[in-house]
Amino acid sequence: MTNTAPHQAVEPVEEASSAQGQPITFPTGFLWGAATAAYQIEGASSEGGRTDSIWDTFSRTPGRVVEGHTGDVACDHYHRFREDVRLMADLGLQSYRFSIAWPRVQPGGMGPANQEGLDFYRRLIDELRKYDIEPWVTLYHWDLPQPLEDAGGWPARDTAYRFADYAALVYEALSDRVKFWTTLNEPWCSAFLGYGSGVHAPGRNDGADAVRAGHHLMLGHGLAVQAMRAARPDNEFGITLNLYAVSPMSDSEADQDAVRRIDGLANRFFLDPILRGQYPQDVVADLAEVTDFGHVQDGDLTIISTPLSLLGVNYYSRYVVGGPDDSTPREPYWRAPSAWPGSQHVRFGTRGAPVTDMGWEIDAPGLVETLQRVHRDYPGVPIYITENGSAFVDEVVDGAVHDPDRLAYFDAHLRACHEAIASGVPLRGYFAWSLMDNFEWAWGYTKRFGMVYVDYDTQLRIPKSSARWYAEVIRRNGLAAQ
Ligand code: FCB
Repeated sequence: MTNTAPHQAVEPVEEASSAQGQPITFPTGFLWGAATAAYQIEGASSEGGRTDSIWDTFSRTPGRVVEGHTGDVACDHYHRFREDVRLMADLGLQSYRFSIAWPRVQPGGMGPANQEGLDFYRRLIDELRKYDIEPWVTLYHWDLPQPLEDAGGWPARDTAYRFADYAALVYEALSDRVKFWTTLNEPWCSAFLGYGSGVHAPGRNDGADAVRAGHHLMLGHGLAVQAMRAARPDNEFGITLNLYAVSPMSDSEADQDAVRRIDGLANRFFLDPILRGQYPQDVVADLAEVTDFGHVQDGDLTIISTPLSLLGVNYYSRYVVGGPDDSTPREPYWRAPSAWPGSQHVRFGTRGAPVTDMGWEIDAPGLVETLQRVHRDYPGVPIYITENGSAFVDEVVDGAVHDPDRLAYFDAHLRACHEAIASGVPLRGYFAWSLMDNFEWAWGYTKRFGMVYVDYDTQLRIPKSSARWYAEVIRRNGLAAQ
């Protein structure tokens, strides 16, 4: 890859057919990559001047992460990054999406940069460039420095300004060698899992705080884009949202209302402010018992809707939801810990489709729907799939890992991407989640999403059959007939 925006080179798709099993070709210039995140792979949690993030604190708290797993060692990528980049080159990756650990480059979340931390990322980026792999930086993949959480965390407005300062500091150091800049990964998770349901760090349970956190994350995003663009405008700026297709359990009015609510909180709560400069009024109304949105100040939405060069979409599955039934408790449900403040009465179901090891239904048509919806309702912004993938139980047999389920998941979702492109969606690239098995947050090392298997005892990496298959997809810029 050269240091030019790949989407400028994209030509109209020639082959519109995406029927299951047909060979398909992606547009010229389509960017093929894989993704990871700092806390999930780096390890070296107290080396090189790194201090604790909320995930260090959370994972060391008994009962928070399955089997007490932590990211202390993870995939030891901090020490093995050269070997890992070599692996990426062997797979023919054109781009690698990774995140910068805030507490590694700005320990404590305030003050000057830690040069040793920045040097690690400089070396990683230079190594990538050596093999012509385009580095794609995510500035925040959930590792808030612990002192900032102690000062109030994302529900506190000041954290947005701290984030913008951190972004500017990293940008000053690395903007000469990185073209693609993502501010936040999945602010819904940071806000609503971190401060609402509490299943993610920092593990707090307060609906109003979750909503405030969501706002300040978006404010931090907007401030960061403005600061980076002011310092050097000739790069690409975006944010990554985890978006869902949402379907009702039935045609009933209550189930349709559940769709509106969950689509509102999961998707539109972020899409509308960022791409339209306003909160969706129905969601504000749903949340009226939780918060009066008094934390939103004049001018915030202008900052939040600072124009972007691209939108990152992470897609894994579909939500199937319904309104309350007779078994749903009627007491003031909005006070219970939940990722869905104001809408706790919504029931989550399934369609009975096969599921991954996470229990998530495999739903590739949901990806087509999601992409077409973004293009229809928020037109004009180029889109990249910044994560898509699946966890399955893997077994090493004679030194090899055969993972047909994961391969089939990728195949189906890539066909969905192609279908979306053929229908006019400006999809410019795809990043598989994940390059390698890693620390899957509250699930620790018990869930494997990698195309490369990691033996955590020896740190041996074994490319699974899905990795070999993906290398071939990249080589042909498409899928062979099945
Ligand atoms: C996403 C996260 C990523 C990974 C996948 C499975 O929500 O961004 O770090 O855990 O889910």
